[in-house]
Amino acid sequence: MLGRDLVRAAELTNHEVTATTRAELDVTDRASVDRVVERARPDAVINCAAYTDVDGAEREPEAALRVNADGARNVAAAAVAAGASVLYVSTDYVFDGRKGGPYVESDEPNPLSSYGASKLAGEVDTSAVNPQHYIVRSSWLFGTAGRNFAATMLDLGERESQVVVVRDQVGSPTYTAHLAEGLVRLIDTGAFGLYHMAAGGQCSWYDFAVAIFEQAGVDCRVLSTTTEELGRPAPRPEYSALATQYADAIHLPDWTEGLDDYLAERR
Ligand SMILES: NC(=O)c1ccc[n+]([C@@H]2O[C@H](COP(=O)([O-])OP(=O)(O)OC[C@H]3O[C@@H](n4cnc5c(N)ncnc54)[C@H](OP(=O)(O)O)[C@@H]3O)[C@@H](O)[C@H]2O)c1
Repeated sequence: MLGRDLVRAAELTNHEVTATTRAELDVTDRASVDRVVERARPDAVINCAAYTDVDGAEREPEAALRVNADGARNVAAAAVAAGASVLYVSTDYVFDGRKGGPYVESDEPNPLSSYGASKLAGEVDTSAVNPQHYIVRSSWLFGTAGRNFAATMLDLGERESQVVVVRDQVGSPTYTAHLAEGLVRLIDTGAFGLYHMAAGGQCSWYDFAVAIFEQAGVDCRVLSTTTEELGRPAPRPEYSALATQYADAIHLPDWTEGLDDYLAERR
């Protein structure tokens, strides 16, 4: 989902882009990563490949680690060998959600889930292997190129008169096209490091669902539930909005603006 928007954002800013599918480049296959990166001779490698099934990772944590950590190490190492920087996209799920306020870069991660732990391992491995790294944590992604909460709500809204959504998880829903633009700008700065980059503002999944139906003009009632009642396999942080501690950080538009742009793009 993010990868497709990144290709578009990079091409729009006149970067020459080599984009690969999973069949062309499996990040868990070191030789295939080395081959593709060596041939492309890039200045920067952006790793958008990930095991993203948060509940699935509880059942098969090694599979998540293989892609999100071992794969990240392979990509970072191939970038080093090519003299390129690497950008690893990470997540708000590296935090436990107990801070009670937006998380900044210097806050201590403490993942609750196997997915969060695998992404934190990917951050650590990427930064250990390639000194020229950008680690960018974002959150609650939605975009037109993949499955996501907003698309699911709009599909449900066509068939159902009401949906039930959790109200006790708060975060910053981030539109992938906005994040992609931010990532390209970051790479152009050459300022390596760890950054938080998510949409402005925050809301619960419940608030997000209400806004999706309102802004899309869909008549579907949203009922609220709790994380405990829903009983999903993976624990999720209660509050994981991201903020940045850097005065000159790249800021993304508010999540409501992201939702507007997403709905316009779908139309
Ligand atoms: N979605 C979110 O809410 C969210 C929030 C914060 C951060 N992130 C992070 O943002 C990044 C992009 O997420 P996304 O939502 O765009 O994810 P996505 O749509 O699930 O894309 C991940 C891609 O990685 C591919 N992939 C999986 N295993 C691979 C492998 N071994 N080698 C090569 N490619 C492989 C997947 O292919 P298949 O489809 O064939 O599996 C898929 O195309 C990820 O790092 C994710 O952890 C996501």
